[in-house]
Amino acid sequence: MTGRRKGGPLGEMISPRPPRGIFGRGDFLSNIKKSLNYAFLIVGGAGGGFATLPPVDEPAWRRLAVLNVLPATDSFGYIMTASISATLAGQAPGLWPSAPGRTVCGLRFASVDGAAAGAESGDGAESGDGAESGERLLHQPVLLAEAMEYLAVRGGGVYLDGTLGEGGHTLRVLELSGPDGVALGIDRDPRSLAVARRRLEGYGGRAITVHGNYSDMADIAAAHGVAGVAGILLDLGFSSRQIQGGGYGISFQADEPLDMRYDTGGPSAADLVNGVDERELANLIYEFGEERRSRAIARAIVSGRPVATTGQLAGIVARAVGGPRRGRHPATRTFQALRIAVNEELHHLSKGLRAVPGLLAPGGRCVVISYHSLEDRIVKEWAEVQSAQCVCPPGLPVCVCEHQPTLRPVRRRVVRPAAAEVAANPRSRSARLRVVERI
Ligand SMILES: C[S@@+](CC[C@H](N)C(=O)[O-])C[C@H]1O[C@@H](n2cnc3c(N)ncnc32)[C@H](O)[C@@H]1O
Repeated sequence: MTGRRKGGPLGEMISPRPPRGIFGRGDFLSNIKKSLNYAFLIVGGAGGGFATLPPVDEPAWRRLAVLNVLPATDSFGYIMTASISATLAGQAPGLWPSAPGRTVCGLRFASVDGAAAGAESGDGAESGDGAESGERLLHQPVLLAEAMEYLAVRGGGVYLDGTLGEGGHTLRVLELSGPDGVALGIDRDPRSLAVARRRLEGYGGRAITVHGNYSDMADIAAAHGVAGVAGILLDLGFSSRQIQGGGYGISFQADEPLDMRYDTGGPSAADLVNGVDERELANLIYEFGEERRSRAIARAIVSGRPVATTGQLAGIVARAVGGPRRGRHPATRTFQALRIAVNEELHHLSKGLRAVPGLLAPGGRCVVISYHSLEDRIVKEWAEVQSAQCVCPPGLPVCVCEHQPTLRPVRRRVVRPAAAEVAANPRSRSARLRVVERI
């Protein structure tokens, strides 16, 4: 058994209400049942503690959220945090790649009293589909109130959501822009789009949903007769649905065929890790994961080929670089890098942002929520350049660029989620919102 960490992500997750304690594996289940809001478990020591935890099948316990699994201080240790506010319906497969199939995967974690449904209704999303056939709960929109505030959503406005996901933000936009506001939602992932369509169907023609890439938003908007929009939202990256399993092969949270594509088409992550040479792989992991151990990781991956599953990849990386780093799984950065590469995320972000000024009506706003520094840097630099009076290289005695700013910053600093949101939805903890306005 390892000790509880002070501060750090775990400290944030369990605030503001403290956990009931650190439980031995024997009393985990009974304690977790008693713990209404937060519970966490630290299991460690040689052999790990999960293996002997019994499965729980009571239906009432199906929705305990497993927010994160963090390696603890020894190589067999884990810290599992659980909260009512995020969701993991049913099984939690492959939580730790070096221990696939352990009994932990058979645990049915459950929250008490439909906590996730509460979070959904608190978000103003419709109720009822939280269960999505009882299998999976919906993605919780991040920085929802802040995004609406900075988009300044108003009745009758036309809005574009380039990353529709399961429609959480767009639902609120439609609510606030009623009775006749319009939202055009775009997503690359047909499965998320299908969920969003079901959720938005009550809005009829006010909700336009398109399978596509937001980097093509100018063409998509033109094809649907949408112009002069009052607001554009980009909530970057992936949704909870996409990391919780279900075949995306995007995360070590579920042991699945390594894929990572939001959409089909184009090479998968397995094609990438098995196909490129070691040097290229190392560069990619360094560039898109900002991973300083990229060379050691690339070497280990190449000698472990063929790599077929997320669990296998996570295990290779964990063995190559050792234990947890800053409370995160050692493969976090490698997975990020591959996902960015497979989906060409930074390319699409830059291209999408270039289209923004041409789509916005004067006074229209663009809100971008990013989740890591590579994305945020691109958004920040774009906003700076678009709002600059002059973009001449430094040192020129007079301005020769004749640059015309198209945007102005609504606020210069990023908006971060409040502690309460991070506690309720740990996925939000890295979110940074930036907002600009069309001149
Ligand atoms: C964080 S989720 C958005 C969640 C959404 N705001 C909600 O409330 O449900 C990001 C979504 O963007 C989508 N996505 C990622 N890159 C994209 C791109 N280039 N074009 C369109 N959609 C993209 C992903 O498939 C995912 O559904």
